[in-house]
Amino acid sequence: MYPKTTSSYPMLFLYFIYRNVAVGLVSAGLAEVIPHRSDEPKSVAYLELQKAQEKAKKAKKGIHGKEVPEEIVDYSLGLGDISPSVMIQLQNFLKNQKRRGVVDYVLSGQRLKVYLPERNCIIPVNLQHIQCDAYHAVIPKYQTKTGADALKYTNQRLFQKDIELEVAEFVDQNNRNPIWIGKVWVDGKDVALELLEQGLARIFVPPSFLNRGGRSKASGIPDAYAEAEAVAKKKNWTQEREEEKKKNDLTGHEKTVTVCHVDSAVRFWVNVDGSSELEKLEAEMARVPRQNPGTIRPGKIVAALYDGLYCRAKVLKPNPKDPSQWHVLFVDYGNRTWISHKDMTSLPQKLSLGQWPPLAHSCQLAALRAPSFNTVHFNISGEKFAELALPSAPKSENEKSLAKELKIKVILDDYGKKWYVILLDQNTNINEYLVKSGYARFDQKAKETPQELLRLEDAFTKEYLRTVQKLNEEALQARIGLWEIGDASTDEEDLF
Ligand SMILES: *[C@@H]1O[C@H](CO)[C@@H](O)[C@H](O)[C@H]1NC(C)=O
Ligand SMILES: *[C@@H]1O[C@H](CO)[C@@H](O)[C@H](O)[C@H]1NC(C)=O
Ligand SMILES: *[C@@H]1O[C@H](CO)[C@@H](O)[C@H](O)[C@H]1NC(C)=O
Repeated sequence: MYPKTTSSYPMLFLYFIYRNVAVGLVSAGLAEVIPHRSDEPKSVAYLELQKAQEKAKKAKKGIHGKEVPEEIVDYSLGLGDISPSVMIQLQNFLKNQKRRGVVDYVLSGQRLKVYLPERNCIIPVNLQHIQCDAYHAVIPKYQTKTGADALKYTNQRLFQKDIELEVAEFVDQNNRNPIWIGKVWVDGKDVALELLEQGLARIFVPPSFLNRGGRSKASGIPDAYAEAEAVAKKKNWTQEREEEKKKNDLTGHEKTVTVCHVDSAVRFWVNVDGSSELEKLEAEMARVPRQNPGTIRPGKIVAALYDGLYCRAKVLKPNPKDPSQWHVLFVDYGNRTWISHKDMTSLPQKLSLGQWPPLAHSCQLAALRAPSFNTVHFNISGEKFAELALPSAPKSENEKSLAKELKIKVILDDYGKKWYVILLDQNTNINEYLVKSGYARFDQKAKETPQELLRLEDAFTKEYLRTVQKLNEEALQARIGLWEIGDASTDEEDLF
């Protein structure tokens, strides 16, 4: 079978070996079936093609009639010198009508070339309302797994298939990259909706609509699309989180750490990878250029200038009295301070938390609470803990403070947000020491402890919980430390 009068489009011949297009062409009388000898290789649809030809001959269609067949035009190559009247006819044919087509080629999850048998032309089509990750076979920058998966899905669904197409819009950029935007159905199913359901596409709102109040009704996004996207996102997110948690869950693990900051007798921050990682980061931070950080808002990660050095900081909240001052958390150390807007700069991509996770991890001594905040014991116990956990201060200016290596045993890893731990210095269990000495108390009512932790069933945790409860009772009996004024637990509950 060879198509008539397509000499100027040699590539098209390749497309026409596809069964549907071939049959379509032969039926329309636009092509002839090449007679084969019985031992020659031939199209799998040879019989079907011959039948189609017989029919077409009887009906005197195309080359079998008197009319000269039209040339097949591929509009994806540009509009060139297509006459305006031909274009108007084509647009009228397509506009707001479901039309029959055959998918000739799939370029990405959302982009196709569609052959329209009734018009004998090929048009480039973009699925309406959605966007898939770009996928480019050669350029690595445009190769994401989701992009590849989307392309694979659309290919499986649509390649060489009969479809229905409803065009909503035509975009023509100076006759160069014409594109028809619309919906595509295969076997009665909307393919864009399927892609959203599979989590392989996002809803796309043209920028012009974004300015007019976002994804409102004005943009015409079907409710089913929005719902499908939301469900897929939630599924994706939960899955990712579970995977992340499984991969990084430290529950039951021991780690050697240095304590880098103390918030209270039971809350503190640790560095895990020794000092080398921090030194590498600090060397990079010293080279961060000054740049406008854009709008500052809570949650934003910036580089904040402190003591002559930029440190990675998470913006917490503005000072109500002076909006140029922001409370920030230094994510690699765990300490906080107020920083002026002018001392913030944007963080280069390679130093983002995604690329280089925070070096300070938040910890809490498992199932323990500090004395109430507004009692003198809060400070006393905090200082005691700092003395036990922090590196000792250097004795002279030339001396560096000695890193103090401690061990943590993670009792519960709260989704990577916080580690609930036992802190060990050589053979001293610091948790037990603090409770025994009245510097900390057992958090029986789970005010600061996940319920889940108190319900853990492993022998180690159960033994630990039994021990701190017993030590707590003994310290209370002996009126040690925070218990010196007796059992304050009744009024204390109100204080916290
Ligand atoms: C699902 O997660 C992947 C990996 O993080 C991401 O690339 C993709 O865009 C997500 N899909 C949706 C629908 O949110
Ligand atoms: C935070 O801790 C780091 C490391 O100990 C120190 O260099 C920095 O000065 C501290 N920042 C504040 C605000 O205390
Ligand atoms: C605890 O110490 C801080 C600063 O170190 C001080 O401002 C505060 O007044 C102290 N609180 C009590 C109750 O002593």
